[in-house]
Amino acid sequence: MSIDFDKLIKTKSTGPARSGKRLNILFGTTEVVPYAKTGGLGDVSASLPKALAARGHHVYVVTPLYKHIDPDQKRFSRRLTELEVPLKAKSQKKVKTVVWETRLSAGVTLMLLDYPEYFDRDGLYGYAGGAYDDNAARFSFFSRALVELAVQFSIPVDVIHCNDWHTSLAPIYFKQYYQKEMPQIATVLTIHNMAFQGEFAEGDFDATGLSKGTYLSAAQLKAGRNINFMKGGIVNADKITTVSPTYAEEIRTKEGGHGLDTVLKKRKKDLSGILNGADYSIWSPGNDQYIPVRYDKETLNGKRRNKAALQHMFELPVRPTLPLIGFVGRLTDQKGVHLMVPAVRKLLKGLEDERAGFQCVFLGEGDAKHERALQKLAKEFPERVAVHVGYSEDMAHKLIAASDILAVPSEFEPCGLTQIYAMRYGTIPVVHQTGGLADTVRDVDSNPETGTGFVFEKYTKSELWKALDTAATRYRSHRKWRPLMMRAMNQDFSWAQSAQQYESTYYDAIGA
Ligand code: ADP
Ligand code: GLC
Repeated sequence: MSIDFDKLIKTKSTGPARSGKRLNILFGTTEVVPYAKTGGLGDVSASLPKALAARGHHVYVVTPLYKHIDPDQKRFSRRLTELEVPLKAKSQKKVKTVVWETRLSAGVTLMLLDYPEYFDRDGLYGYAGGAYDDNAARFSFFSRALVELAVQFSIPVDVIHCNDWHTSLAPIYFKQYYQKEMPQIATVLTIHNMAFQGEFAEGDFDATGLSKGTYLSAAQLKAGRNINFMKGGIVNADKITTVSPTYAEEIRTKEGGHGLDTVLKKRKKDLSGILNGADYSIWSPGNDQYIPVRYDKETLNGKRRNKAALQHMFELPVRPTLPLIGFVGRLTDQKGVHLMVPAVRKLLKGLEDERAGFQCVFLGEGDAKHERALQKLAKEFPERVAVHVGYSEDMAHKLIAASDILAVPSEFEPCGLTQIYAMRYGTIPVVHQTGGLADTVRDVDSNPETGTGFVFEKYTKSELWKALDTAATRYRSHRKWRPLMMRAMNQDFSWAQSAQQYESTYYDAIGA
């Protein structure tokens, strides 16, 4: 597949808002940095609204008030009017929800829905062992609350922007109950990951409060024997986006669609891929709050000091010239740990010269089988491999800054943010050619003058093994590595251009 990188990467021109209309956008999400994050959705839900606000719009980010967030301690203000959320139809039983508010950044207001019955729990989506069994009810409620907020709000809302399956029912609730009275409001759904669709047994349908006659059908929520929230959003949202152009194509194929490719094909006209951006005020080696030594292109020695500090922290031998490969991610099948473990093992086995090979540091949490496999690998190579099982924002920054190479061997990746962040730190990504990884990293062997990383095509452990070996070997050639680092650091994935594309999508959706 040939990719027009210039089209994707040029982010300079922002231009004026197309129709000049300043929009009020209600942005529904279950994660937002710094309050809740399990992955990239949390980053995007903070940084995209900020970029939209920079274009003159006002974004109200709506999210649940989870147990770990104390609104008093955070000094959020409590809205005087409670939000009334009907549990069914329009006029039946309503529950009252307190809404807390705070300013996230200029033009971005965070609104937190306080409904303890569903959100005063230790996890966002479940316990360590699995998902909460009332998730259908929890996220039907959240989607319905989002719509009620839009229609009861004192400010005229233009767009309800939903993210992933958790808010996918909002377009249905809006269409069913309010569209006739408020045709000026449009709904947009962004798909961050087709692997998570909010699938539930048919018995959970009642939790949606919707009429069975209309919505428990193959044209709406039914998918096979289950009900599927994401499908509901895809069928009913005015516009659909996903987080990279290549992923927008992949999800319309049988392999990438996770069962919803046919539904997506039908919405092709309204589906677009908009690449995620990076918030460089957080993810830049020059101003990173978490790393021991800040650096930039002129002071690259600082990177070596970060590397030494990380090697020390992980009790690895401090070896400045040995390439350090990093990995940060959720430990699910998607992220390719099952390729990483055998590839690293094969490369490290039998190495006698301690200056040969590389070191490897993993940060992640998720499936127990992957956690165990990584811990086993670290035991086998105590001088070479270190693992931190857990979630640590602090360590993620330290690891990305300290590593020479970042491995992102995902089987599929809607966009992926770590490879984008890594490049800014002069950390060279090794990625599988898929989704947003393919759209953001240019292979240096195919493009010696412009390459920014190492891209492998076939999703096999031997391809990954070869790519890691090539990267680690290339690291030793200062003459080639330094220009590669410079090119990577010069890439600009700031949000400006992508925010403009979201804005166009909103205007199209409202017909402006
Ligand atoms: P995904 O959303 O599929 O998890 P992304 O690459 O878009 O993948 O985003 C992952 C985000 O989560 C990045 O900001 C990354 O640093 C962070 N992250 C993932 N795992 C961890 C972890 N164990 N500790 C800290 N940050 C993590
Ligand atoms: C998802 C995807 C990831 C993407 C992120 C933010 O979790 O797995 O590729 O970058 O959402 O859009």
